[in-house]
Amino acid sequence: MLSVSDLVTHYGHSQALYGVSFSLTAGEVVTLLGRNGMGKTTTINSIMGIVPKTVGCVEFEGTDISSYPSYKVAKLGIGLVPEGRQIFPNLSAHENLIATAREDISQIWGAERIYDLFPELAARKNSMGNLLSGGEQQMLAIGRALMTNPKLMILDEATEGLAPLIRKTIWESLDRIRSDGLAILIIDKNLKDLMKLADRHHIVHKGQVVWTGTSQELERAADIRAKYLGL
Ligand SMILES: Nc1ncnc2c1ncn2[C@@H]1O[C@H](COP(=O)(O)OP(=O)(O)OP(=O)(O)O)[C@@H](O)[C@H]1O
Ligand SMILES: [Mg+2]
Repeated sequence: MLSVSDLVTHYGHSQALYGVSFSLTAGEVVTLLGRNGMGKTTTINSIMGIVPKTVGCVEFEGTDISSYPSYKVAKLGIGLVPEGRQIFPNLSAHENLIATAREDISQIWGAERIYDLFPELAARKNSMGNLLSGGEQQMLAIGRALMTNPKLMILDEATEGLAPLIRKTIWESLDRIRSDGLAILIIDKNLKDLMKLADRHHIVHKGQVVWTGTSQELERAADIRAKYLGL
């Protein structure tokens, strides 16, 4: 479904990615793991067309999207839940949600379906974005991405800063979303939770993917976990 080959990305003169390659199959839940500053966010922002890549190829369902601007990538079916959530502070939760609704295709995910997924959010639908808790903002960010009817969802720091109970709600929602056939690419620091949810993992280290394997393989690879994740 997604094939990323030899991505090289710079910020000015500073090189952040040194040839990132990995792939994801339809229906799969895959992670990008790695310590701070190793290039996970840069990788997905390069895929999304948010950060311009220097060289490399990104294919989505057989289409070369390497030079697509972000709105076109989104339209093709990749939904992003960005690091920091980026909720509009002066719009209500409901307005935030419907802001990304599409008129060009029939909505598979409407607001009602999002509220069914997150009843906590339904109860806060009239609250302004800046008055929502971190957990509610993350539910909203996931809902907003779903409203674009993606085939692939990418979450950058899916549960960062959230309390354990809210984290559980987020993981359960992703489990429900995946059972609908969506592929998911997750960045998160809670390896234990990811081991349960994800099929495969990619470790990003110094701007490259240095290891790929299943949860069982990562479980057994104590040396890899220690070396690249400090766990
Ligand atoms: N806007 C930017 N301008 C310049 N350098 C940047 C910018 N964003 C990231 N970098 C640099 O690129 C490298 C990769 O950063 P990136 O944010 O992709 O890492 P990350 O793996 O997502 O880290 P974290 O786990 O902290 O989110 C780092 O050296 C970082 O300092
Ligand atoms: Mg990041």
